[in-house]
Amino acid sequence: MTPLSFAQAIRPLIRDFDIEEMKYNSSFDLSKYEDVRAHSADIYERLVDGSMPSDGAWPAENIAKFKQWMDEGMAP
Ligand code: HEM
Repeated sequence: MTPLSFAQAIRPLIRDFDIEEMKYNSSFDLSKYEDVRAHSADIYERLVDGSMPSDGAWPAENIAKFKQWMDEGMAP
């Protein structure tokens, strides 16, 4: 099976609001593959503990997809 890619599986889960807020509040850009890959462990931790996105946690299905993308080698 083809591994999940950032462009097709992950990027569509991220809202413009997430990108704007996180550009302002952190050192990375959630719209950029390289940044999400570099911070994937921190991002996953926040998704799992429900503290990010700060206005409401992702459904378990989306968190599982992010984990699968990581496990499959974080294809662009
Ligand atoms: C998918 C969406 C989001 C993800 C994956 C995410 C992820 C993260 C991560 C990993 C950090 C730690 C950054 C660091 O230590 O440099 C963080 C911090 C932060 N984020 Fe987000 N974020 C998301 C959406 C949002 C939204 C929508 C807001 C505001 C409305 C927000 C506000 C903040 C703030 C204020 C911080 C710094 C304070 C803290 O660490 O709690 N984020 N976020």
